[in-house]
Amino acid sequence: MSEKVDIHVCVFGKRCAKRGSRENLETLKRCVNELGVQDLVVIHEEDCLSLCRSGPNVFVKPAYVRYEHVCPEQCKGIVETHVKVPKGKAQSD
Ligand code: FES
Repeated sequence: MSEKVDIHVCVFGKRCAKRGSRENLETLKRCVNELGVQDLVVIHEEDCLSLCRSGPNVFVKPAYVRYEHVCPEQCKGIVETHVKVPKGKAQSD
């Protein structure tokens, strides 16, 4: 069994929100669905993670990796980096 991956997205913090964190959140959700890994991932909508200067921020556990200045184009790669995508699903270009 694969370990669940928790993806924490700062969406309620003002600075990240101003810089597009909501778009990142929606893109992450869409990528999880497209890759068919809904059972392996939990996406958490977070308040400020106290890392505002580097926002929009995404934090992934259990790897404890923080992504800074995230844009929607990075989101699929973040999911694929941390989640074992079932065979037959598209990988990043
Ligand atoms: S506003 Fe996102 S980390 Fe503070």
